[in-house]
Amino acid sequence: MPDQPDLLWDLPTRLFHWGLVAGIATCWITGSLLDNAMQIHLLAGYFTLSLLLFRLLWGIAGSQTSRFNHFLRGPAAIAAYARTLFHRNSVGQQAGHNPIGGWSVVLLLTASLTVAITGLFSNDAIDTHGPLAGWVGDDMSDRLTDWHQLSFDILAVFIGLHLFAILFYRLYKKTDLVRPMITGKLANCEDCNAKPASLLLAGILYAVCLGIVYAVARSAG
Ligand code: HEM
Ligand code: HEM
Repeated sequence: MPDQPDLLWDLPTRLFHWGLVAGIATCWITGSLLDNAMQIHLLAGYFTLSLLLFRLLWGIAGSQTSRFNHFLRGPAAIAAYARTLFHRNSVGQQAGHNPIGGWSVVLLLTASLTVAITGLFSNDAIDTHGPLAGWVGDDMSDRLTDWHQLSFDILAVFIGLHLFAILFYRLYKKTDLVRPMITGKLANCEDCNAKPASLLLAGILYAVCLGIVYAVARSAG
């Protein structure tokens, strides 16, 4: 008898997701909309970076549906799924990201990581700079600031597509993907996480990621 038969997304993955949304929204508001909020921007950026590092580790050590090797599928699986994309009843109760969704997760994570890492080397030409900006010199820091802005614009497009896809599933395929990302549960789920990975392990891995980010933040060059 499985421990939690209907557990689609484990707690760490859900906390990661909604924490990422909050972190990126705060970075956007403090970076683009508000004046004089760069100290909050840096803190929100560190928080976001720590979550992203954690998600990379959780993609290896997390519960089955959160693992990269569970949802990153080859071209044949992608093509087979693409052929059913516009079938209204093609979702079923199978567990986890579908073959197209899986690669969109990689795009979202890569774009978010690029923004967060380039931020470490950025400067605002006034008095705020990322902790590693001094290591690379002014010219390179200016170039990476351009990258920080450009990669954020690309991320914003991916986020728009992400939200569009969720709306498409809701309206066209009559499938609510959001509720499982909140509650973790999917009724009558085939192949869900029979044995969720340990929360203690998640806590230890997150503490390691936080420690790495703290060390980077303190290493201002
Ligand atoms: C995923 C996390 C992050 C997001 C979404 C983000 C987003 C942004 C945005 C939208 C801007 C305004 C760009 C513009 O003026 O057009 C900005 C500026 C900036 N960010 Fe971030 N950021 C993130 C992480 C970081 C981190 C970790 C640092 C450093 C520790 C950082 C340092 C800076 C600096 C110094 C600027 C000022 C650059 C300028 O004036 O254009 N950011 N960021
Ligand atoms: C800053 C904006 C957002 C970013 C960067 C983002 C990123 C991501 C990522 C990386 C995943 C993969 C989760 C994992 O396996 O770790 C994901 C999944 C998901 N996100 Fe978002 N997300 C954003 C906003 C939202 C919002 C606002 C909603 C709700 C309306 C949402 C709903 C979902 C859902 C339902 C899934 C699971 C999709 C599935 O069933 O395959 N996301 N998102």
